[in-house]
Amino acid sequence: MPFAHRGTAALALLTLGCGTPRAAETCDTLTWANTGAPVLTTWCTSCHSASSTGELRRGAPPGVDFDTLPGARSFARAIARTATGPAPTMPPSGGPTADERERLAGWLACGLPGEALPRESHTDCEGETWSGDWVAAADPPLCPGTSAVAGDVTVNADTDLSCLCTVQGAMELRGRTTELRLPRLAEVGGDLRVAQAASLQVLDAPYLHDLGGALIVENNPQLRTLQLWRLHTVGGEVSIAVNPALTTLAATSAIESVGGPLSVVDNDGLPLLDGFARVVAVDGPVLFAGNDAAEALHGFLFATHLDHPVSVTDHAQLRRITAFADLVEVTGPLQIRDNPALVEGPNVPWLTTVAGLTLQGAAHQRVPMLQSLTEIDGDLILSDNTALWDIEPLGSLTRVGGDLVATGNPELDPSERDEWLASVRVKGSIQTD
Ligand code: HEC
Repeated sequence: MPFAHRGTAALALLTLGCGTPRAAETCDTLTWANTGAPVLTTWCTSCHSASSTGELRRGAPPGVDFDTLPGARSFARAIARTATGPAPTMPPSGGPTADERERLAGWLACGLPGEALPRESHTDCEGETWSGDWVAAADPPLCPGTSAVAGDVTVNADTDLSCLCTVQGAMELRGRTTELRLPRLAEVGGDLRVAQAASLQVLDAPYLHDLGGALIVENNPQLRTLQLWRLHTVGGEVSIAVNPALTTLAATSAIESVGGPLSVVDNDGLPLLDGFARVVAVDGPVLFAGNDAAEALHGFLFATHLDHPVSVTDHAQLRRITAFADLVEVTGPLQIRDNPALVEGPNVPWLTTVAGLTLQGAAHQRVPMLQSLTEIDGDLILSDNTALWDIEPLGSLTRVGGDLVATGNPELDPSERDEWLASVRVKGSIQTD
């Protein structure tokens, strides 16, 4: 079973550890210096290092890096899942001895002790509060001297906001700004909206941690840098759409919860859909669509339950989906449609419940890993897959609550398909060709 959340994982492993002969090791003796760093730097950082890019990573997802303690901490559960336990999958070949893996598991279970994490918030936030709404150019400058605005902030010209730590209302960027640098901003009570900013190139808010409303980044033709490294909670939706100059989403990788839909749509310059590594809760549909240059979708390493539809559609070049590996339950349909280059994933070996499943218009030879899936509440659509011949991974499926459509798969042997269909109870209609 995948872990329910980080706290549970640590406890479960710790309890196990107590009963083993290794009880002499305690959380005081297993440290970053004597356990975490030696194992990870010997066996993992040849691929998973922040200093390696492109080919040097040998396929390791960008941003999944373990060369520092904070890096290792933020991927603790994924390291435990892939590199410890009875059937480790990392590194891809060879790897640590059983003893090293056990020490690594112990250190992870102790909560990855080591030197203290660097301070996450800017300390220099003493200043006045501006009492109402503030509009750049119209109102007097905020900096120096003001650290908080009680109302909304509207930025419509290049302006110094380096003193600003808190915006209690919403923050909106429009007009002729080229760079929005918010080096101290930690909190915005309402939405952060950056839309139709024709000349904006950089949005940098490295300490922004909590956003009470939505994060909207839409229709910004020149935006190439989006730095939100510490953004943890978004109270409303996240929409990143039509930003053709954006080349990475990695800087959204600290977001854990999203209070509305999450969508990444029509950003045609993104070679990888690599943000959202740590999202665990999304209160709305998840949609990745029409990002024309994207070759891989990574992320959602820890999400186990998603309560709305999840869709990945219309990507001309998408080849691999490594995202969603921990999913157990999706209470909406899971739709992977019209990604004609897709050959791998999403591999969801723990998925047991899904409201519907569509695998359509891909180049897979075999169905992705779905071996825990025994029932689908709604429709199963398996169609127009140019190379699909192996449907074995759907072999555990016994019941489909809606319709089953298996058409337009030219490589699928009809007698194999019919043999499989005979083992599935389908409540609605069955359509084959
Ligand atoms: C030779 C390169 C290489 C080495 C060395 C390596 N990895 Fe990976 N790692 C990959 C590749 C390629 C992927 C992406 C494909 C995949 O998920 O299988 C990956 C993905 C991952 C992921 C994210 C995917 C997931 O399933 O959650 C984690 C976590 C991970 N590796 C951990 C480790 C750990 C821990 C070590 C060391 C014990 C390690 N890796 C060593 C190449 C490597």
